[in-house]
Amino acid sequence: MSKKVFITGIDGQDGSYLSEFLLNKGYEVHGMVRRVSLEDPEHHLWRIKHILDKVKLHAASLESYPSIFKVVEQVKPDECYHLAAQSFVSYSFEDEFSTINTNINGTHFVLSAIKEKVPKCKFYFAASSEQFGMAKESPQNENTPFHPRSPYGISKVAGFHLTQNYREAYGLFACSGLLFNHESPRRGFEFVTRKITNAAAEIKLGLKAELRLGNLDAKRDWGFAGDYVEAMWMMLQQDAPDDYVIATGETHSVKEFIELAFDTVGLDWKKYVIVDDVLYRPAEVFILKGDYSKAEKKFGWKPKVNFKELVTMMVNADLERFKNMKKDICDAKD
Ligand code: GDD
Repeated sequence: MSKKVFITGIDGQDGSYLSEFLLNKGYEVHGMVRRVSLEDPEHHLWRIKHILDKVKLHAASLESYPSIFKVVEQVKPDECYHLAAQSFVSYSFEDEFSTINTNINGTHFVLSAIKEKVPKCKFYFAASSEQFGMAKESPQNENTPFHPRSPYGISKVAGFHLTQNYREAYGLFACSGLLFNHESPRRGFEFVTRKITNAAAEIKLGLKAELRLGNLDAKRDWGFAGDYVEAMWMMLQQDAPDDYVIATGETHSVKEFIELAFDTVGLDWKKYVIVDDVLYRPAEVFILKGDYSKAEKKFGWKPKVNFKELVTMMVNADLERFKNMKKDICDAKD
């Protein structure tokens, strides 16, 4: 019989890549989505449109323990990947209460439901490099102290400790992946990488004149989401639960990302990018760089896609998308 997996946030970037990966491995894939997503699949489920007939979706909310409990009781998963969260750092400054409540309670609800109904189920928590925030050392590893700089970062630190506590207190096979920024053509448009690649494509095609951004000097360790979901799965296949940093070990500035993206479409970025103070964060994480040597040593994980490949992959995908949109409009007119 095939193993059952339960993914919260299956309709997000990571959920979509992870589902594809696990379907290929022969898992029976169940996912949790909000009711509104089932009612409006065109807008909410575009990332998993191509596998909708292969996965089973369940409506539940991170804000409701009974709804999560019911799905866990019904599915009885062998593995659970808890990816759902309010994940946009900027927004967490605007509505810190809902980010903190939803992210911390949501993680607690999933952990508790698993402890009650399927204590042998392996659990993965989507921890974040935002937990390091104003990092005390570089590169950051599993022993680097946390200094979160946003309500989002604080909520992830709490989720990380909850996961660790369920492991230590109740013996759950619970792991955290401290994932550094990971991107792809399926990235949400509010994140800086996608905002840039989307705008570079639009400007190239004459659909937009400028791109407004905040802090161009911030530096991140950017990898490809498709590589990172494999690490999530590998963590849960080890003999004992543990926490791992997943990163590329390289750091690049937002400016470098912009340069490369605009180079890809043959444009000079300086003519189009406008720095807007409104887009600066009240507290910034200036630089992140991860040390993934523990994951490499333990289960042989390393990133496959490099920075340049990632940027060009994203820009080309956006160009392609706009070209197809234009074509669809022309076809409809004919
Ligand atoms: N979003 C955004 N929009 N960021 C901008 C902009 C802008 O217009 N201009 C500059 N930036 C800078 C931000 O200030 C930040 O330093 C950097 O670009 C990256 O921002 P995001 O792409 O929004 O990602 P993030 O690093 O805050 O968080 C992402 O990665 C985390 C892993 O470390 C998110 O995916 C988190 O959910 C994830 O945990």
